[in-house]
Amino acid sequence: ASDRNGHGGGGRRRRVLLLPLPYHGHINPMLRLAAALHDRGLAVTVVHPETRVPDRRSLPAGCELITVPDGLPPELAASNDIPSFVFALNRNCAAPFRDLLAGALRQEEEDGGGVACVVADVDWFAPLAAARELGVPALALMTSSAARFRVYLAYPRLCEKGYLPVQASNLDTPVDEHSPLLVRDLHVMMDTSRHVAYANLLAHIVAGVRQSSGLILNTFNAIERADVEQIRCDTAIPVFPIGPLHVLSPPATAATMQKSSLLLEDRSCLEWLNTQLPGSVLFVSFGTLVSIDADELLEVAWGLAASNRPFLWVVRPRLVRGRDSVELPDELLEEIRGRGRIIRWAPQEEVLSHPAIAAFLTHCGWNSTLESMSRAVPMICKPCGGDQLGTARYVCDVWKVGVRVEIEDKLTRQGINTMIERLMDGKEGGVVRDRIREMADVMSKCTMKGGSSDLALQDLRADVEQIRC
Ligand code: UDX
Repeated sequence: ASDRNGHGGGGRRRRVLLLPLPYHGHINPMLRLAAALHDRGLAVTVVHPETRVPDRRSLPAGCELITVPDGLPPELAASNDIPSFVFALNRNCAAPFRDLLAGALRQEEEDGGGVACVVADVDWFAPLAAARELGVPALALMTSSAARFRVYLAYPRLCEKGYLPVQASNLDTPVDEHSPLLVRDLHVMMDTSRHVAYANLLAHIVAGVRQSSGLILNTFNAIERADVEQIRCDTAIPVFPIGPLHVLSPPATAATMQKSSLLLEDRSCLEWLNTQLPGSVLFVSFGTLVSIDADELLEVAWGLAASNRPFLWVVRPRLVRGRDSVELPDELLEEIRGRGRIIRWAPQEEVLSHPAIAAFLTHCGWNSTLESMSRAVPMICKPCGGDQLGTARYVCDVWKVGVRVEIEDKLTRQGINTMIERLMDGKEGGVVRDRIREMADVMSKCTMKGGSSDLALQDLRADVEQIRC
């Protein structure tokens, strides 16, 4: 069938191989990119390591999924040691990926389609290199913000200038050229050995991207134009800000996709939301990787209880360090009975679209932030590490679409409750709600025909036809 670009009809589609990093927050945007590219006339193969393989039904129609052996010990796959995990994946998957790509090249030559390019998560530096060695153009996808990628690029300079590793004495120092970021927003990694491992990982990521044929960003010009331009100048490669991918991905295709959930979604929460008043419920979720202490979990629970508002809270397995499930005290359960609903995993995008939702208490993962903005749901930000700290700074101080729970502290019931009141009751809440409605509007225009993200996607599509290594 012919697609929206008029490709198709005669001749075979050219093939793109996509490599997501096996984390939920990275798989989701890559699968949305798969849908967008497939809809624009390309054949898509998603190549995934054997760890945390998404359900095949989560793939857009017409896209195929192939797994490559990763040889990862389960303890490493389950750990939060991201540098070790990513290095091991690159080490173990590069050769199987190269074999698979070489096979695809032979096959496509026989079938007359041809391999157009590889698009790999920025963390896949070894497969990006393997593709180039085989003469296949390789593009990188950054699933977090452009501002965060600028921090990646600047990391060695930030170390030279003494901003990093972060020290207790310089937490509130503004970072030159990265306004509005403070040192505390760069990364909470005071432990020297982890800092060295992380810096080493970023050096590999940046080197891989610099040698690639282009960088795709899950962001849009209206909020990050300056950062996108800076990345263009600094890397001298084509940069495509085509986000937010969850909005841009064509609804007709996305509707046929099951959500790429690694956990079973509790859809009964949607029925419960139907019983709540419009604009009354606080949605609470800390994403897929954050772990907190058991006492912090209790503080959140008591903070929510004290708010006297309905809430829907995702307490996923291992949200509390090392625990698959948690038990809350009876007196607390009594306090929130009928008003608070606790689930293990939510259909988050549908929840955020529900009219009963008033606000989102979030860790500010980039996907959650974009999903919240696109549904005009104001945020209460409690970033817990990595890119979330910088994103929360932008959300609250630049875009002004959320309020922040002060970040140096552990979660406390007073902190949670004060922010809920500030956002739900105060004058500030009204301003934030107006701002996020405008933001949702701007975001939707960016992804519409002729909007900046649509044009960037058209450029990307045209480049895929032309790029050579
Ligand atoms: C981390 C980083 O913080 C983030 O910036 C990076 O892009 C990916 O890794 P993560 O904890 O995965 O983030 O959060 P986020 O980026 O917000 O992604 C979580 C995804 O899981 C979202 O797409 C969200 O819709 C989905 N989700 C989360 C659910 O579908 N159900 C849930 O209950 C919770």
